[in-house]
Amino acid sequence: EQTAAIAEIFDELHTPFIGNQVSYNMLNREAETTGLLDVLDAHHAGLIAYGPLAEGLLTDRYLDGIPADFPLHRTNSFIADNREAYVAKLNALNAIAQQRGQTLAQLAMAWLLRDPRVPSIVIGASSVEHLLDNVRVADNMTLSAEELAAIESILND
Ligand SMILES: NC(=O)c1ccc[n+]([C@@H]2O[C@H](COP(=O)([O-])OP(=O)(O)OC[C@H]3O[C@@H](n4cnc5c(N)ncnc54)[C@H](OP(=O)(O)O)[C@@H]3O)[C@@H](O)[C@H]2O)c1
Repeated sequence: EQTAAIAEIFDELHTPFIGNQVSYNMLNREAETTGLLDVLDAHHAGLIAYGPLAEGLLTDRYLDGIPADFPLHRTNSFIADNREAYVAKLNALNAIAQQRGQTLAQLAMAWLLRDPRVPSIVIGASSVEHLLDNVRVADNMTLSAEELAAIESILND
């Protein structure tokens, strides 16, 4: 609702409005459920996703468990009481990534970038190794209908 109101003001002022940076990843899909993606699309603006790896959860680091002291971002606070269920989801997603010859991080980014309403993502890697791992997502950005359905089923389970 706020973005729709802001976009109207931008229109009135003839101010270019090209994008909105919000938290969006496989685990936090508020941008879909609130209608934000649709509002942006209606105004020919894109969603720039920050936290695309859910602050690191959507990598191969937490496949054996999410430590009690993991600093969950407020947008992922729903995970706190369901850590085991989310670890199971991460492992199921990782299996799909492996079938595609990708890392879980690469799958998570390909999933975001498949949507033309998401023109860019802001990744938070602090090592060259992680950065290179992440940019290799460009090697395989296409997800089949079967893969998307399998991902949807894991996320909604
Ligand atoms: N989260 C927010 O509230 C927020 C708000 C506005 C803007 N931003 C900006 O958005 C950017 C990303 O945000 P974020 O840090 O929340 O998001 P993120 O990209 O979802 O997660 C970053 C975490 O993932 C790890 N990681 C990245 N690539 C990896 C790989 N290939 N394998 C294993 N681990 C990997 C990083 O570890 P290493 O550090 O060890 O590489 C780091 O712990 C930052 O520049 C931030 O300033 C964030």
